[in-house]
Order: sequence, then structure tokens, then C-alpha cells
Amino acid sequence: MMDSLVLLWVAFCLFFFLFKAQRPKNFPPGPFSLPIFGNLLQLNLENPINDLKKLRLRYGNVYSICFGSRPVVVLNGVHAVKEALVNQSVEFAGRPQDLMINHVTKNEGVVLLNHGPVWRDVRRFSLMTLRNFGLGKQSMEERILGEVSYITSHLEKCAGKSMDPQNLFHKAASNIITTVLFGTRYEHEDKFLQLFIQLFKELSKIANGPWAMIYDTFPVVRNLPLPFQKAFQKFEVLKDAVKDLISQHKMSWVPRQPRDLLDCYLDEMEKREDDSSFNESQLVTLLLDLHFAGTDTTSNTLLTTFLYLMTHPDVQERCQKEIDQVLGEKLQASFEDRHRMPYTQAMIHEAQRVANTVPLSVFHTTTKDTQLMGYDIPKGTLIIPNLSSVLNEESQWKFPHDFNPSNFLNDEGEFVKPEAFMPFSTGPRMCLGEGLARMELFLVLVTLLRHFQFIWPEDAGEPDYSTIFGATMSPKPYRMDVRLRNKRECVIQSQNTTE
Ligand code: HEM
Ligand SMILES: *[C@@H]1O[C@H](CO)[C@@H](O)[C@H](O)[C@H]1NC(C)=O
Ligand SMILES: *[C@@H]1O[C@H](CO)[C@@H](O)[C@H](O)[C@H]1NC(C)=O
Ligand SMILES: *[C@@H]1O[C@H](CO)[C@@H](O)[C@H](O)[C@H]1NC(C)=O
Repeated sequence: MMDSLVLLWVAFCLFFFLFKAQRPKNFPPGPFSLPIFGNLLQLNLENPINDLKKLRLRYGNVYSICFGSRPVVVLNGVHAVKEALVNQSVEFAGRPQDLMINHVTKNEGVVLLNHGPVWRDVRRFSLMTLRNFGLGKQSMEERILGEVSYITSHLEKCAGKSMDPQNLFHKAASNIITTVLFGTRYEHEDKFLQLFIQLFKELSKIANGPWAMIYDTFPVVRNLPLPFQKAFQKFEVLKDAVKDLISQHKMSWVPRQPRDLLDCYLDEMEKREDDSSFNESQLVTLLLDLHFAGTDTTSNTLLTTFLYLMTHPDVQERCQKEIDQVLGEKLQASFEDRHRMPYTQAMIHEAQRVANTVPLSVFHTTTKDTQLMGYDIPKGTLIIPNLSSVLNEESQWKFPHDFNPSNFLNDEGEFVKPEAFMPFSTGPRMCLGEGLARMELFLVLVTLLRHFQFIWPEDAGEPDYSTIFGATMSPKPYRMDVRLRNKRECVIQSQNTTE
């Protein structure tokens, strides 16, 4: 009996000694972590937010935890985040390379590529194309306004009733991206679009769930027939759908007369014959990446914005006054109008701040051994920039815990953007769809506020501002009462009588 106890004890110590999740020397502090499991067992994997909040209070703005035997550094507050992502832009611009999502996407696309020449080229190409260089005859703005008119006519049918806007916004955001990428928009009932959205949803559910955590933490289980294998299968189905689109496109492609990003890429491939990093397989994943990165983010931001606009009718009304005044008789808003709408601009930024859509950014890694706030951080360390800690930081905002456009207005009522506004992150990895997203948010919101009034339904109870945790945050489903604004009714009537 005694013998076996001693043996057990020795085995236990050995186990600890061999597998102890070791933090490197002078590493940011954090809680004691178990061998192999790290801090995983101490966290609620479905929603770790509360557990993590405690850690920050205890260990400060730069702290560490262990995912299995992998030490991870979490950056909180504008100071630490900027110090890393801006001042040491190259050192902190890597991406992890051995997570499940890397294996699923086989190191193609752009979001998950490590810092290096291929990433830089693909990023530059995507940015240039999205900035309207070479997108052909139809500008980005026209593409967005085209989709906005579908949203408007859908809402006109709902006027006087209440509706759940989730699907409408999701499909609209998806359509805006697909018109930019492939030049096609899909009817909201379209089978292809539905399949696409469904697969993406399932994929991101797996990628953000506990099974992905297990895959990332325990390499030995990776080949077992566990639920994470579905992620690989679903990604192949998505790729096949996109490959079909590419073949169709190639049949009608006229070199140097691009209709969309896909055509631009084909041109680029021809130009770079000898550079195999622009190839068709890479294109498939790039298209999926851009679609994925641009859909949920934008539609969840819109959902949050309407939730707050309904529950803050004074803010909604003030935006409508400003919009009416600036647009006058003009039927359509343009992105240029934003310069004359400081209050509406402030409202949109404030909505992005409280929406906190991508709370932990996309994970970074260090590309070399480096130092941060006096700590040593070795090359390859996983870095989590906590964007929500910056967007809510008490020292940075006039009203950190309210929804109040004054956070973005100075005493003269002019629009100002504090440095802690970073829903798109910051540094060289910053969201490359920022320009597109800002144009979408502005044109959708201004057009809808011009035409409709949005009211929290009387029978809906107290609004619930809590969010559903995931890679992107979304509000709980809600319904909104849609009313045509008088102004718009007049416009419609006068149009009808002149026809
Ligand atoms: C409101 C909408 C959006 C928000 C809040 C948002 C936020 C973000 C954030 C936080 C990151 C991570 C940056 C980092 O790693 O430091 C990111 C990356 C990225 N976003 Fe967005 N995004 C939005 C819309 C879009 C759109 C519309 C597109 C598509 C064109 C897009 C494409 C990307 C891409 C490709 C990356 C990866 C960039 C890289 O790794 O170099 N995003 N976004
Ligand atoms: C990020 O910051 C927010 C707000 O300060 C906090 O609630 C959350 O727990 C933090 N997350 C992490 C991973 O530290
Ligand atoms: C980071 O950069 C900013 C702006 O260039 C500078 O003011 C600040 O001192 C830098 N921080 C460090 C530690 O070098
Ligand atoms: C396509 O390009 C990617 C990088 O962009 C590279 O990893 C891959 O090996 C290339 N594939 C072929 C078939 O050349």
C-alpha cells in the first residue's frame, strides 16, 4: 500500500516536472497553470469573458495564461495595445500557424497568413482592389447603394409591422461582399447563398467551440474521428462551390477589363506568371476569407446599431433631423455627405464602440524575440489584443459605459475620433475592409434613417443589451417596429402622382 502511494507520488512529480506548462523567463505574470491542460480547466470554455476579467484585475494590463502548454499573452488598454501593434509593428504582426483554422485553410487566403512577403503581396492587392482601383465601371459606392435599395424595399413591405432584422442584414452584408468579389448578388432566398451562409455558420461554430480548443491543445488527438473533422469537410464543400464560380467567371473574362475582385486577381495572375504565390487555389481561399471577414462583422454591427437607436429615440431623431437637413431634396445619400453630418458620424462610431464586434481581434504572434512593458516575450508567442478593453477603457472615454455619441463630439459639436477607437484593431494587420465597412455602415444607416422610424415594440419587454459570445459578438435576437417616416410618404406620393 505504502509502496504504491510513494510510486504514485513519484509518478505525479515526474509528470509535473516533465509537462509543467512552463512560462518563459521574465514573462508577463498569470495564474498557476496545470501541466498539459494549462489554464483550460479554470475557464468556462463556452464563455470565458468573466473568468478573464478577474485575471486582468489581478495581474494587470499585460498578463499571461496557458492554453495547454502554450503560453498566451493578453494585452489590455490602449497603451499596451499600441505599444505592441504600432510601436513594434513588425514584431507583433505574426499569426499563429498551428491552430485548427490554419490546417483547415492550408495557409492560404490572407487573414491567417503569417507575416512575410506572400501576406504583404496579397494584402496590398486586396487593399488596392477594394479601394476602387481597377474595380471596373461600377464604383464601390454604387454597388453598396444597389443593395441598400433592396433593403429599403424589403422594409417598406414591413412598414407598420414588427420584424426581426437579423436575416435581412446578414444577407445584405453578404451580398455587398459578393458583388465586390464576384459581381453577383443573390436573391435572399437563393439556394447557393443559403448554403454558403449555413456552411460558414457551422464552420465558425466549430472553429470557436471547445472541440477546436481541444484540437489546438492536444496534437495527439488531431487524426481521431472527433467532431472537429467536420470543419475540414465543410471547408472543402465551400471551396468546391467557389471553384465553380471561378470557372464560370473565366469563361466570360476579358483581360484588363475587370468586373470585380475575382477578375482583378486573374489579371494579377497573368502579370505575375513566374510568381506562384498568386494561384487559383490561393484565390479560392482569399475569396472565402474576404467573404467571411466582411459578413458577420458588418451585419452584427448593424444589428447592434438598430438596437441602440430604438432604445435611444432622442439619438435617432437627432440623426434624422441632420440627415433631412443635409440631403434636402436629394433622393440618395453619398459617402461624401458624411463630412456634413458630424452627429450621425458620431452616432455610427459610438455604435461601433459599444458593438465591440470583434472583442479579441484576430490572434497575433510575435515574429521575433522582443520586449513589452519590461517583460520578455519570445518569438512565436500567441498574442491576444483585447480590443474591448480599449473600447471601454475608463480613462479614454467621456462616457465609457453608456451609448452616447458625445464620445465622438468636441465642444463645438464637431466630429472627433479618439485614439482608443479601434474596432478594426490597429497597426499593419488592421482590418483591410475598414474602408468598405465604413462606407456600408454609413450608406445603410443614413438611407434607412431617412426613410423609416424604428421603434422598440411595446410588447417586447425590457431591451437586453447582453451579447452572444463568439468570434464576432452579436446582440440577442430582437424585433423592431418599422414605420415609414412622413417625409418619405410625401416623396412616394409625389412620385406616384407624377408617374
Ligand atoms: C464592422 C465591420 C468590421 C469589423 C469590426 C472588422 C474588424 C476586424 C478586426 C478587429 C480585424 C483583426 C485585425 C488584427 O489582426 O489586428 C480584422 C481583420 C481583417 N478584416 Fe475586418 N472588420 C470588419 C469588416 C471587414 C470587411 C467588410 C472585410 C472585407 C473586405 C474585412 C476583411 C478583413 C481582413 C481580410 C482581415 C485580415 C487582415 C490581415 O490579416 O492582414 N473586414 N477585421
Ligand atoms: C478584455 O477586456 C474586457 C473589458 O475590460 C474584459 O471584460 C475581458 O474579460 C477582457 N478579456 C480578456 C481575454 O482579458
Ligand atoms: C511609441 O510611439 C509613440 C509615437 O511615435 C511615442 O510617443 C512613444 O514614446 C513610443 N513608445 C516607446 C516605448 O518607444
Ligand atoms: C499557391 O500560393 C500559395 C501562397 O499564396 C502557396 O502556399 C501554394 O503553395 C501555391 N500553390 C501552388 C500550386 O503553387
